[in-house]
Amino acid sequence: MKKREVIRVEGLSFGYTDVALLKDVSFFIREGEFVTIVGPNGGGKTTLLRLLLGLLCPWEGSITIYGRPHAEQRHLMGYVPQHGVFDRAFPMTVEEMVLQGRIRPWGWYSRQDKKKVAQVLDQVGLSSLKKVSFSSLSGGQLQRALIARALVSEAPILLLDEPSASIDSESEKQLFSLLQSLKGQKTIILVTHDTGFVHKITDRVLCIHRGVCEHPFEVSGGLAAGHGYGPEYGVIHHERTQEEG
Ligand SMILES: Nc1ncnc2c1ncn2[C@@H]1O[C@H](COP(=O)(O)OP(=O)(O)OP(=O)(O)O)[C@@H](O)[C@H]1O
Ligand SMILES: [Mg+2]
Repeated sequence: MKKREVIRVEGLSFGYTDVALLKDVSFFIREGEFVTIVGPNGGGKTTLLRLLLGLLCPWEGSITIYGRPHAEQRHLMGYVPQHGVFDRAFPMTVEEMVLQGRIRPWGWYSRQDKKKVAQVLDQVGLSSLKKVSFSSLSGGQLQRALIARALVSEAPILLLDEPSASIDSESEKQLFSLLQSLKGQKTIILVTHDTGFVHKITDRVLCIHRGVCEHPFEVSGGLAAGHGYGPEYGVIHHERTQEEG
């Protein structure tokens, strides 16, 4: 049976200046898929995630999430921003930081919220650190705490921007196991320069560099190293199997 379509991007163009950074980008993602996004530095990967989240407004084209305009559907997406964007110096515990994922008016959190945080911290392997200061976490622990914050919202879509950047191989293994356990439960879009890290769980690879092109799954393991990222290309329409439609 065909899975439900979760994200559809059609004819999307956007730029920060009067020059388009993303041009005529179109793709769709089905429920439960694990999609890896690759592309050169400055190619527009983070920008694409911010457009999906409704933090930026497209020049042209449309983005729908579960068939509705994306701006109305922000609450359905958990976001793990690119490393370094988060202010680590902010004085709070791991538990308090993760609680922020349960957005509540006036900052009141229920017992249920705290229970959910405890469950998610257990899931990401950080239960023992919940009362420590957020600023004292290692790079790998920090990434897992940021994922926990995205998970407590219980959003069905998870967007992760380079979660394996600047973490050691042991932390990368733990992060991989966590993502593997989430595969299928959530629709996951993960931006990375390190496709080897997730190629075992990746269903599809999209390359973003002004346009988008889709790479067959088989090449995803060696894609980052092997791809030349030509100077400019628009949308490349890949043939799909009949099953994909
Ligand atoms: N707020 C902004 N204002 C102006 N230009 C921006 C802004 N954010 C990003 N850019 C520019 O847009 C381009 C794409 O940036 P983006 O962060 O989307 O790339 P990326 O593919 O995520 O790169 P990286 O792999 O380095 O994370 C870059 O040239 C960047 O300098
Ligand atoms: Mg980026």
